[in-house]
Formats: sequence, C-alpha cells, structure tokens
Amino acid sequence: MKVLVIGSGGREHAIVDALARSAQVGKIWCAPGNAGIARQAECVAIGDTEVEKLCDFALRNGADLTVVGPESSLAAGVIDRFREAGLRIFGPTKAAARIESSKEFAKQLMAKYAIPTAGFRAFADYAEALAYVSARPFPAVLKYDGLAAGKGVVIAGTLTEAEAALRDMLLEDKFGAGKVVVEDYLEGPEFSFMCFVSGSRVWPMVLAQDHKRACDGDRGPNTGGMGAYSPLPFITAEDEQFALERIMQPAADAMVAEGCPFEGVLYGGLMKTARGIEVIEFNARFGDPETEVVLPRLKSDIADIFCAVADGCDAQIEWHDFATLGIVLASKGYPGTYEKGCEIGGLDEMECTVYHMGTRTEDGRVVTAGGRVLFVVGRGSTLEEARAEALRNVARIRCENLFHRTDIGHRAFE
Ligand code: AMP
Ligand code: GLY
Repeated sequence: MKVLVIGSGGREHAIVDALARSAQVGKIWCAPGNAGIARQAECVAIGDTEVEKLCDFALRNGADLTVVGPESSLAAGVIDRFREAGLRIFGPTKAAARIESSKEFAKQLMAKYAIPTAGFRAFADYAEALAYVSARPFPAVLKYDGLAAGKGVVIAGTLTEAEAALRDMLLEDKFGAGKVVVEDYLEGPEFSFMCFVSGSRVWPMVLAQDHKRACDGDRGPNTGGMGAYSPLPFITAEDEQFALERIMQPAADAMVAEGCPFEGVLYGGLMKTARGIEVIEFNARFGDPETEVVLPRLKSDIADIFCAVADGCDAQIEWHDFATLGIVLASKGYPGTYEKGCEIGGLDEMECTVYHMGTRTEDGRVVTAGGRVLFVVGRGSTLEEARAEALRNVARIRCENLFHRTDIGHRAFE
C-alpha cells in the first residue's frame, strides 16, 4: 500500500511511525512533514490546507490511502474533496467535523441525545451574553463557537474578565464573527478518550492525559500540550465503560441520526466530575500529544484499522500492556514568541522513541522550527519506569533554546 499522511507535527510523526510498522505499507509520503518524519517517509512540499495540490498529488501518485492529522486540513475540506475525486481517505467530512469546529453544534447534539456535559447557552449578542453571565456564579466558562487554535476558551474568575473576553469574541470578532457558548463550570481531572469511529462502529483506544499548562505544577499559560501519558490509574474500568457506552457510542449514533455519520477519530475531552464523567469537548481528529503516547501501545496493524474505518468493515484492535510517558521539548518563550533555527544536538544518542513536532533540516543539521519541537517517549512496565526513561533521554538533547516540564504524569504518582 502507498499511504499519504497530511500534517507536520508530532502527531503525524506518530502516525507515520505506526504505518511504518505495518506489513502491508510499502510507501509513505508526508505533506509537508518535518526533519524527523523525513527519516521514515518521503516528505512532500505541500501545505496541509492546499487541498487541490494534495488531491492532485494523491491522484498522480496512486495513493491507496490518505490519513489526515490536523483540524485545519479538515476545515479546509480535504476529506470532501478527496472523496469527490474517488480517493480513499481517513477522516470526517466537513459536516461531521462540526462536532469540533462548532461548539454550539456539539452542545446541541449532546443536549438532544442526553450525553452528559455542562449546561450551556449560546449567544450572538454581547449585551445578552453579559447580562446572562452577570446573573450567574463565577467562574464563568466562555467559549468562542468556531475553531480558535485552542485559544477560544476563557475561564473568567470575575465579571471584569468575562466582560473583556465577551468583548473580544462578540464585539471585536477577534477569532472571526461567531457566537459564544457560556457553560457551567465543572471540576475534576480531565482525560482524553480517542475512538476510531465508522458510522455506528466505535473502537476505543487506550486512555491518555495531556498537560496543557506551560510550567510545572500546572501553572503558566495554556499551550497545545506539554506532555502526555497512558494508561491512567485514576480512571477505573467502570469509568471507561461508562465513557464508551454513555458518551462515545451515543455520540457516534447521534451523528448517524443527524445525517452526518462520523468517520475517523472521535476524540472525547472528558472530565471525571463529582457527579460522573462529562464531556468538556469533542475533537474530530487524533489529539496532539496524546497520539504520541497512544499509538506506540497499538499492537494491531494501523493500516488495517484505517482501511476498516474508510471502507466500513470490521477490525480487531489489540493493545500492548506497557506504559508510555512523553515529554515535550518546547522553544523558550512558547506559547508566546520564540526563536527558530536553533541547532539540536544529541538526537543520534537517543535510546527511546522521539517524535519531531517542529523541526527542519538546514545544511544537514536538524534545527528548531516551531513552538513545540520534540516529543521524547519513555516506555516501561510501569508509568514510573516510562517516566525515568523519558527523563533520562530528555537529558541527552543539547539545545540552548529548549525547555520542558519535569512533572509530566504527576497525577499518577500522587
Ligand atoms: P476546550 O477547548 O473546550 O477543551 O476547553 C479548554 C480547557 O478549558 C479544557 O481543557 C478545560 O480545562 C477548560 N474547560 C472547558 N470547559 C470547561 C468547563 N465547563 N468547566 C471547567 N473547565 C472547563
Ligand atoms: N491535546 C489536545 C488536543 O489535541 O486538542
């Protein structure tokens, strides 16, 4: 099989790595890829939203399957375009991807199908939203309705903060013209439950937890994720069964009932609250960096799963028992401004899996090319062993412009 992967981060590197382990995959391209991906796939200089060029490439080169990483490609309509051209592609149509791209669509779907989530109301009008928020307890959870690269959620502790956020979202259209969803505030540990979904068929993946804040102790600004691990000792088998039977399966069924069946990875961003497991958000794609700790645990052939989802047939999915824990090395200054082009040394001395998140090759050297740069994955029979392996290998990387968290997985060690 010849497979095209779309994207350029750690998630796509993990997908390429899983495909490289498949007995039936002979050729892998990645568009646009990065310096690490280039060791396992042929990188193609096409951006992840250049839909026509991607489609043209897949047609000309006879790609048997295309796998999409980022939400930006989904929002650009890559799935719909490939299908129209008769190409086999793994991912949800634009209509199905609304479960991620529109918070209001997702909240209404959950309300209609009794999927547990925080109570909410949607507003297009600034004054109405402000009046509603003023009359309710704080903190207030305010979410911009559309895609906002992870920056569209504000947990406002005071009315002044809420006012500023609503002004940005509704009066100044900072993320574009769109509504705001105001939600009840929930508390508890969050975790990520990704499932392969093909219409009403749902195959669960092993659970993972991401760490969104930039600094140790879950402090500092929100980021795209600074580390992740799997499995999760604080989520019981009953919790997992509840999440599958009362959240993920009903969500897949609801999409079928609404006339936009979901195909691809449905990602439940869930919270274990005092009253049970509830949905914080759905994503329509593999999580990043969760994928980088989940796919190494996949025992089955990932190409079989992608094809089963795309073709609507059955698949068996098996997982390894070992634990994985991964640490992000990010450019100093991230998630704010940071330098690029800094040389990375020590990559050849690594004794564990390393996924590249934002790197490129310059005159034969690997240099930084993004906010999140590398993802170092330790594995072991326990999370402690996995963490020790990750930390040991992080220390081998030589680059003055990188920082990392040292407490990834802390909830599991408390
Ligand atoms: P989202 O983009 O919807 O996942 O929200 C980003 C982050 O905001 C989540 O990971 C949570 O930490 C937090 N958050 C979102 N919704 C709520 C809520 N209803 N209650 C408490 N925290 C929330
Ligand atoms: N790790 C969170 C996400 O992929 O959205």
